Amino acid sequence: MTVEKKRVSVTANGQACSAEVEPRKLLVHYLRDDLGLTGTHVGCDTSQCGACSVMVDGDVVKSCTMLAVQADHSEITTVEGLGTAAELHPMQQSFWEEHGLQCGYCTPGVMIAAIGLLKENPNPTEEEIREGLEGVICRCTGYQFIVSAVQKAATRIQETGVNLNSQRLVGEGTQND
Ligand code: FES
Ligand code: FES
Repeated sequence: MTVEKKRVSVTANGQACSAEVEPRKLLVHYLRDDLGLTGTHVGCDTSQCGACSVMVDGDVVKSCTMLAVQADHSEITTVEGLGTAAELHPMQQSFWEEHGLQCGYCTPGVMIAAIGLLKENPNPTEEEIREGLEGVICRCTGYQFIVSAVQKAATRIQETGVNLNSQRLVGEGTQND
């Protein structure tokens, strides 16, 4: 039996993207397989790990919990929409400086979740960071370095005025719209 495909069009990291997908396809697989945005990882497929976290219309979403068709016409930010190698986002810069990763598998989802946290609470306490990131699991770091990285990023974002509400979250020192 042939399954009828649906066209799903989104703006991903500021770029218009479109692909035909089966209605049962998860958003994470649409991002990875159809749009080539493989920075978004699949750690469990059961909504536990948060490695698949992306921003959908400004909210942090575990993209294995959403169908691609549900994201039609939405604005999505993945880890590829943060900084570039030449111009890291303050979150990326802080993770690098504070050794907030080891294997890096969880890191895209952790950084997206951390940006979502800082949008709500620009200057969180250590406890609030731990609570805010409880939806993402890291098997390597023991979390302390992640917390330190998010604290540093919070300071840096306030100092540099990077706009966390922009869809494409370009790097340090750049004010975007
Ligand atoms: S892959 Fe989505 S929560 Fe683990
Ligand atoms: S750095 Fe390995 S899972 Fe987090």
